Amino acid sequence: MAKPIYILNGPNLNLLGTREPEIYGSQTLDDIAKLSETHAQSLGLSTAFHQSNAEGQLIDWIHQARNDGAGIILNAGAYTHTSIAIADALSAAELPVIELHLSNVFAREPFRHHSYIAPVANGVICGFGATGYRLALSAMSDILNPQSSS
Ligand code: DQA
Repeated sequence: MAKPIYILNGPNLNLLGTREPEIYGSQTLDDIAKLSETHAQSLGLSTAFHQSNAEGQLIDWIHQARNDGAGIILNAGAYTHTSIAIADALSAAELPVIELHLSNVFAREPFRHHSYIAPVANGVICGFGATGYRLALSAMSDILNPQSSS
């Protein structure tokens, strides 16, 4: 059984659908989990999709992915801009990492322009709403199977 792609979602993302929909869109996190699973299947991948408001829980899942996962797609929410601990956990995981945001953080407040995660990620996807989850899975598929990427 191939290892899953861990798709980890940080604080406040459980409110998607009702939280500032003009910024984050109208799809719920459950909708996003389903579209991720469907897209992953079309790429021959599986997912382990999680959300937590707690930094330590996100770190525990990153540690789990270190043994049990093939890669990590992480929307760390506001922890992106604050958490050295999450960046350290990602470095320790030694897996492909994609940083993801629904909104275009560079078009927003200056405090959202800095990421502790970007330096330890293979790449960053932001500004495409829920579509970003599909883009991230496609990018992860190409990272994991470079010979089959087009
Ligand atoms: C976010 C962007 C972050 O700046 C913000 O704190 C979030 C969501 C996004 O997906 O656009 O909670 O990660």
